[in-house]
Amino acid sequence: MSILVVGATGLVGGQVAQKLRRQGQSVRALVRGGDAHPKVQPLRAAGIEIVNGDLTVAETLEPACRGIATVVCTATSMPTAANDGLRRVDLDGSVALIEAAERAGVKRFVYTSYSGNIQIASPLETAKRTCENRLLRSSMQTVILRPSYFAEVWLSPALGFDFVSGAIRIYGSGEGKGSYISAFDVADFAVAAAMGKDDEHTILEMGGPHAVSQLDAVKIFEQVLEKKFQLEHVPAEALQQQYSSPDPLQKTFAALMLGYTQGGEIKGAQETAKKYGIRLTSVGDYAARVRGKSAGTAA
Ligand SMILES: NC(=O)c1ccc[n+]([C@@H]2O[C@H](COP(=O)([O-])OP(=O)(O)OC[C@H]3O[C@@H](n4cnc5c(N)ncnc54)[C@H](OP(=O)(O)O)[C@@H]3O)[C@@H](O)[C@H]2O)c1
Repeated sequence: MSILVVGATGLVGGQVAQKLRRQGQSVRALVRGGDAHPKVQPLRAAGIEIVNGDLTVAETLEPACRGIATVVCTATSMPTAANDGLRRVDLDGSVALIEAAERAGVKRFVYTSYSGNIQIASPLETAKRTCENRLLRSSMQTVILRPSYFAEVWLSPALGFDFVSGAIRIYGSGEGKGSYISAFDVADFAVAAAMGKDDEHTILEMGGPHAVSQLDAVKIFEQVLEKKFQLEHVPAEALQQQYSSPDPLQKTFAALMLGYTQGGEIKGAQETAKKYGIRLTSVGDYAARVRGKSAGTAA
């Protein structure tokens, strides 16, 4: 029986599909546009079966789930959430996938949610918690992954942590301590969850090995990269103002950034990782990995 990965052209899903394949699993990926997708080549080269499907096109989901023992879903419409994506993909599309998997006789469903520390109401929060609750009522064995903020995303130039130029955007005071996790470690958890056998519903809160504030992360990067950063603060009031936006994407971003300013340590992260045989990446490890990029050479 195969494992279906939904989100395999993304950061976490791509790793999950490749890691499962390297373990000798038969893997299918549901990909928008199928073989025409620009990121499909490495998946095909690894021997992953590609099926054309879309979470917003309900009739593509049940056929993709037929003959599948386990579904791993890492899909999200973020960060663009085009065409009302938070509702159509993260909420309705993901629920449709869960229900299609049940009808197709899938035994196990691994769903990527986000940390229980993030509790500020938003369209993404609604989508994540609705899917979690739907899965907890399912007859399928379910594993709900609740990772904290990804280091590769929140400590990256895309979100203003520009370690290459040295200009760093700090959200709020920057003092709230959180448990940044590497997306690669999340992929390891997803693989372990997909291969697990426990038949109870499981919720896995997961974070990096240490609680680190934004200002701590700056110090760690300055040390590892041996350079001094310039800080620019985005006041929490500006985020509050953005949060009052009627636009679902703006509201969701603001909610995530407000949650980020508050921080939120994942207690017991090391123990959870040990149980799953995963060595957690620290912010220092991540900084060392990107050091090459900052110096203008290959990482
Ligand atoms: N970033 C964080 O800090 C963070 C923290 C905690 C949890 N998470 C969660 O972690 C998960 C994985 O994140 P990621 O960084 O790997 O995301 P990503 O790189 O943005 O990948 C998203 C994937 O979803 C697919 N997708 C989007 N719309 C789809 C649709 N209509 N039908 C089918 N597939 C669709 C994308 O396919 P295309 O290539 O076709 O667009 C892509 O493969 C997400 O659920 C995210 O919410 C993220």
